[in-house]
Amino acid sequence: MLATLYGRALDSGRAGSVLHDVEARRAVDRIDYDFARTGMTTTTAVGVAIRAKVLDDWTADFIRRTPSCTVLHLACGLDTRVHRLQRPDTVRWVDVDLPDVVALRHKLLPVPDGEYRLVASSVTDDEWLDAVSPARPVVAVFEGLSMYLTQAEGHSLIRRITSRFESGELLFDVYGSWGIKMQKLVPAVRNAGATLHWGVDDPREVEALHPGLTTVDAWRSVDLPHLDALPRSGRIQMRLVSAIPKLRDVGKLLRLRW
Ligand SMILES: C[S@@+](CC[C@H](N)C(=O)[O-])C[C@H]1O[C@@H](n2cnc3c(N)ncnc32)[C@H](O)[C@@H]1O
Repeated sequence: MLATLYGRALDSGRAGSVLHDVEARRAVDRIDYDFARTGMTTTTAVGVAIRAKVLDDWTADFIRRTPSCTVLHLACGLDTRVHRLQRPDTVRWVDVDLPDVVALRHKLLPVPDGEYRLVASSVTDDEWLDAVSPARPVVAVFEGLSMYLTQAEGHSLIRRITSRFESGELLFDVYGSWGIKMQKLVPAVRNAGATLHWGVDDPREVEALHPGLTTVDAWRSVDLPHLDALPRSGRIQMRLVSAIPKLRDVGKLLRLRW
């Protein structure tokens, strides 16, 4: 969570920033922490910003098409997506993360305008979702979450969201099974002492969780837009990774609709 926040802050300080996340920069300045410990480099920072930018654009696209909607931003961490995106007053925004993280958010980040709730809960609990009105279409965006859940928890979360709302979209990133196997090579995962569980190789695994759930986009991390914002070494790294069949599928961004 600190690594990705720092990544977005580093990107925002670069000429040619992808995300322009000024609130991330301000939050980092307020935290007394040695961010070098996150192991973030310019390449990984811009990579984080690119992933966030694609999810921002998909979320903004949903809001544009469906202004009276609910946004569920799950495992929000210290992500300032609610500040980055312009939204009309008709949008209800719900940020959800574990209690410790929510307490930190209260201390570090400004309260957003509009209809906004910050919920302290595990996404695997039922109560938080029961408290969200199912009357509007929903866009559930969750970045850096699926891999921390077990497959059973991930499936259950997606089933609960898709069966509660009549229509909506799921926007999220996944690791492939090779990404899960190679998790200790990811500095942010290794340094945080985290363990990743659920990998998705084929979005049909997710489609099968609800009738009518259909993949709209499934983009490999190595094929995302804005990769030209990476430093030269990062661009070379991406070209190498995209040439190796198993490696190029280590991460994907998914957009599904029902
Ligand atoms: C890698 S961070 C990503 C945070 C944020 N989405 C971002 O991109 O900066 C993972 C986040 O998932 C949250 N998380 C992990 N398991 C969770 C759960 N069961 N319920 C809610 N949040 C969870 C963590 O607290 C953390 O904020």
